[in-house]
Amino acid sequence: MVPPRGRFIVFEGGDGAGKGSALAAAAEALAADGLDVLSTREPGGTAEGLELRSLLLSAAGSVWDQGSELLLMTAARVQHVKRVIRPALAAGKIVLCDRFVGSTIAYQGSGRGLPHSLIRDLHRIFVDDVWPDLTVLLDVDAATGLGRSRRRLAGAEADEGRFEALDLSFHERVRASFLEQAADAPDATIVIDATGPLDSVRRDVVSEIRAWLSASLTTG
Ligand SMILES: Nc1ncnc2c1ncn2[C@@H]1O[C@H](COP(=O)(O)OP(=O)(O)OP(=O)(O)O)[C@@H](O)[C@H]1O
Ligand SMILES: [Mg+2]
Repeated sequence: MVPPRGRFIVFEGGDGAGKGSALAAAAEALAADGLDVLSTREPGGTAEGLELRSLLLSAAGSVWDQGSELLLMTAARVQHVKRVIRPALAAGKIVLCDRFVGSTIAYQGSGRGLPHSLIRDLHRIFVDDVWPDLTVLLDVDAATGLGRSRRRLAGAEADEGRFEALDLSFHERVRASFLEQAADAPDATIVIDATGPLDSVRRDVVSEIRAWLSASLTTG
């Protein structure tokens, strides 16, 4: 018997692009289609990853050197892939993940200035070179995204604003990196214009993912 193969769909984009909202809409729609969906996020996805998330995203996390930041992000991903993502894919699930290695290339690579080759080497050596079957890139200009994210953080309990506190040029490098990654992998990426109203972004995301999945599940 051929073992089932799940599909690994990652949502990427800058802060406030709408990844969380898009993922929730996709999860609801695909579950309504009768698919077995697992929603998860990075950094996080496991208990130990969540502890790293709070260390990495809180304002107090500004003590981390950029090398430590890269290694901790990668450590959270190693745990997440081995304990959660791999087993779910092996069980045939559709895994929806908010951020993955593309975010490390964008933030720690293009944002902080660490070599992309180093990030890819770490990913190959420790994360078994697991790449998404599909990346859904929510693209919005950095100032708009940051504005949304900062407004949301102002009303939230969680202290997760460390990257939002960085200057606009950092976030512009992050956006450019996501667009570059999309251009390098056009067959495995859907770029969604996330500038418009939330409802229309959600509708675009759901219809694009449904179309991609129906083709992907038919061809095996
Ligand atoms: N298209 C949109 N128009 C207006 N507001 C939006 C839109 N998309 C998201 N938002 C709002 O912006 C905030 C951030 O959205 P969301 O958390 O989905 O983004 P995110 O990409 O996951 O951001 P982060 O990386 O900061 O977690 C939320 O308050 C959300 O309601
Ligand atoms: Mg989010």
